[in-house]
Amino acid sequence: MTAHPNFFKVPAIAALLMGVSAQGAVNFKTEILPVLEAKCVKCHKAEHEEGGKIVKPKAELRLDAAWAMLKGGESKRPALVAKDTAKSYMFEVVNLPKDDDMFMPPKGDPLTAEEIAKLKTWIEEGADFGDWEGNLAGKPADAPSTAKAAPKEREHDILYKKLSEGLQPPSKEALKKVQEAGAQVTILQVGGPLVRVDFLTGVSKTDDAKIAAILPIKDNIAHLDLARTVITDASLKTVASFPRLVRLDLRKTKVTDKGVQQLAECKNLAYLNLYGTEVTDAVIPALSSLKTLRDVFIWETKVTEAGAAKLKAALPEAEVVASAVMPAPQQAPAGGNRRRDK
Ligand code: HEC
Repeated sequence: MTAHPNFFKVPAIAALLMGVSAQGAVNFKTEILPVLEAKCVKCHKAEHEEGGKIVKPKAELRLDAAWAMLKGGESKRPALVAKDTAKSYMFEVVNLPKDDDMFMPPKGDPLTAEEIAKLKTWIEEGADFGDWEGNLAGKPADAPSTAKAAPKEREHDILYKKLSEGLQPPSKEALKKVQEAGAQVTILQVGGPLVRVDFLTGVSKTDDAKIAAILPIKDNIAHLDLARTVITDASLKTVASFPRLVRLDLRKTKVTDKGVQQLAECKNLAYLNLYGTEVTDAVIPALSSLKTLRDVFIWETKVTEAGAAKLKAALPEAEVVASAVMPAPQQAPAGGNRRRDK
């Protein structure tokens, strides 16, 4: 999720299966909300005055608040059901044939294929609003609370602030060296010193030598994506010396227990993805010692159920993803409750 502290959101298994980078968890505020505001909210917002007239939301549906999307409009169908695009009416209507009476938006630019894909991913990932609640006016007392992620986000904000203290952004010279080695460097927070590093344009050529080449900016690296690269345990020794590493993606690499055990040195590690590696229960003690961990992916590894249970017990605050949950097959939109009375 981006330069926004939201990037921690647990990515849906579906996203993993689709090969979407964990970083790809969709950020509601920066990627979905702007689309809704541009293409939907004009007609679907709280009752308001316009030119002396009271304007009500079309079909009694408001898309200007999280609670209102979950509640839905006059059809009594929720516009949004987390993890279920087939039940999410707002997803159905943007996918209808353009000549359907219920196609949304009825006027103005339709959603682009990319916007629809983002919306789909966001819903499948759990429709997380982060700390956004929208317009609380008119919210029924019994409406479910939606700003669940707020405490977690605050925790992340504090961590990033702490890690940034007294740290300078990487020098142009160091950045140049690192980029010449094939690394892509993104600044995590505008004006901040922390960076994310990946090798996404050359994973098959990313070996231990490449990792050694990013050492000049090691103090600044908070996110490191090594998924599908050809690194070995030797790189993990290097990586374990990065003092501000918060997020490490090792999925589908050749790392083994010996390498991963060294990560016990990473005192700020909050996210670790080991999906599709050969690690076994031998990594559990090292991971259990990392009390900062919040998201750990160990599915399709050799970690046993008992090992996973041990890890969960040692890290009660962490989300340990240990078994593959296949996404439900896509159903055709239900189509019920469609009215043609307009
Ligand atoms: C120009 C005004 C307008 C815009 C813009 C608009 N809608 Fe609508 N929307 C309507 C109207 C009118 C209806 C009622 C249509 C009917 O019942 O035939 C409706 C109905 C709906 C419904 C059905 C609600 C229910 O419970 O019956 C959903 C869902 C919906 N819109 C979603 C969206 C989404 C998502 C967008 C943006 C992509 C959007 N709308 C943009 C006017 C608009």
